[in-house]
Amino acid sequence: MTTVEAVLREDPSQGDGVFIDANSLQACAEPTDNQALLGWVREIARLTQPDEVVWCDGSQAEYDRLCAQMVATGTLIRLNPDLRPGSFLARSAPTDVARVESRTFIASHRREDAGPTNNWREPEALREELHGVFAGSMRGRTMYVVPFSMGPVGGPISQLGVQITDSPYAVVSMRIMTRMGAQALAAIGEDTPWVPAVHSVGYPLIDAIGRARPEVPWPCNDLKYIAHFPETREIWSYGSGYGGNALLGKKCFALRIASVMARDEGWLAEHMLVLKVTSPQQRVFHLAAAFPSACGKTNLAMLRPTLPGWRVETIGDDIAWMRPAPDGTLRAINPEAGFFGVAPGTGASTNPTAMQMLRENVIFTNVALTDDGDVWWEGMTDEPPAHLVDWQGRDWTPDSPGPAAHPNARFTVSAAQCPTITDLDEPAGVPIDAILFGGRRRTNVPLVAQAGDWGQGVFMGAAISSEQTATAEGTVGQLRHDPFAMLPFTGYNMGDYFAHWLSMSERVEHLPEIFAVNWFRRGDDGRFLWPGFGENCRVIDWICRRLTRTAGAQSTPVGLVPLPDGLNLAGLDVPAGDLNDLFAVDPRSWLTEVDALGTYFARFGDRLPRPIKDNLDSLRARLMA
Ligand code: OXD
Ligand code: MN
Repeated sequence: MTTVEAVLREDPSQGDGVFIDANSLQACAEPTDNQALLGWVREIARLTQPDEVVWCDGSQAEYDRLCAQMVATGTLIRLNPDLRPGSFLARSAPTDVARVESRTFIASHRREDAGPTNNWREPEALREELHGVFAGSMRGRTMYVVPFSMGPVGGPISQLGVQITDSPYAVVSMRIMTRMGAQALAAIGEDTPWVPAVHSVGYPLIDAIGRARPEVPWPCNDLKYIAHFPETREIWSYGSGYGGNALLGKKCFALRIASVMARDEGWLAEHMLVLKVTSPQQRVFHLAAAFPSACGKTNLAMLRPTLPGWRVETIGDDIAWMRPAPDGTLRAINPEAGFFGVAPGTGASTNPTAMQMLRENVIFTNVALTDDGDVWWEGMTDEPPAHLVDWQGRDWTPDSPGPAAHPNARFTVSAAQCPTITDLDEPAGVPIDAILFGGRRRTNVPLVAQAGDWGQGVFMGAAISSEQTATAEGTVGQLRHDPFAMLPFTGYNMGDYFAHWLSMSERVEHLPEIFAVNWFRRGDDGRFLWPGFGENCRVIDWICRRLTRTAGAQSTPVGLVPLPDGLNLAGLDVPAGDLNDLFAVDPRSWLTEVDALGTYFARFGDRLPRPIKDNLDSLRARLMA
């Protein structure tokens, strides 16, 4: 950690207030001579007026120092080192617990380039607003400069960024989630593109007239901006310290900004997990799968197959960058280096691999604290402990009215700790054989259906709807359209995004096969029809056999599904009626869905590609036949 000692001083020429003396900054040790980067750092320091500027090197010593500092300020609680070594609990402000989609902005010059699914802002007006809120926003705080690489440093699919932040929690999280520090900084040459990302929690400790206020455990501001300038590839985030709002490499860069880069450069930046699957015959397949937030992506990424002889290894649980490769395949990397997973619902029976991964060196946020200094959340064990301290620091017993952990409580952990991790440092990525699109659907969508061709597959992605979860503000359980699970993450017009997906058929020689899946279908009595988790390997087995053309399929109006005895159900007790219901296509209910999709697609006007409309029409015709 290079501390550029305090360079604030009274500005004799400007009366009240403090300023950053750019010359003093230069005189201090700055670990780069990249003039564009230095100029930007100084400009942000002048705007936000921190007490000091610290360039992060990504070392363990730096991480340990910042964690100790946050324990002292009350941001982190050190967990019992005998039970959860090297681990901490953070409790956020109750108003800062999820991504804020209503305050997420795409600022493109033309409104139609952001499209109807994004909150559009005129760039210059937004810039002015942001300058207003960022002015002095770091007074009394340290400004950290956090260089990072998404993907292995220097890799052909990787990208560089620099986050400025006044949140040490964001710094330590970025160290876990990205390749952060000196190596990434060294890769940023004068001509290397990098994405500038400015973050402030919006809680200065000194106000404009020099009055101090005390630190709080989770500083944030009721006013929030998660702002993206896709044309200049910049990110500005204000007012939140939580997750995707604050760890700017993740949703802001790797999806919203990167989706625009990908459109311009002919690749894909997607909200997808990536898996390596090895069959009993030792054939290797790579799968990418898009699901809306909190639909079990981390569980699927760490799946323990119940079918003998199958092996599943984890490459990523949230984001995939996929590029057409010279060998004609579509190659994917997980640009992240860690997992920021939803804790509730993760347990020894649902995801034993994750439980193993979480034994040490984890930052937990908004989970409950046990009396012996460990963590707990709903779904970790069948029986809750008799007493806990809940995510807001209140006493909790099983009779308490609310959950002990916030439904969007998280763990932040290095991917290197995942027992099934593989190929994370493979810079050229892995060739993708199949793409899965899923959602949380009680009705209609079958357990698995294969697209007949790329166009129908793209339509399946565009048609995803899912019951909303607690990962963003909104009504939990409400069905919402979430094309490609990218609704909150596409940095441009979603109609153009569909067209970009369609165009991949001209860029990729060996196109992946596309499948729609749904683990969440329920019976009339509300019961889940499919056991899910490790048993999902039976669906993967069928998918892999389709890839090798060793499994048959039958046509339905919504795609190709397994023959009556096509799924390997050996050793699994699924009643025949449930199996039937898992694949049932009720034309009436589907026609209602088609109408809703038609209304939804109409929002894109002439930006809706013709093949999407044609696929909708032919689906309607098949349902009516
Ligand atoms: C996430 C999300 O945090 O999708 O991964 O919300
Ligand atoms: Mn996600």
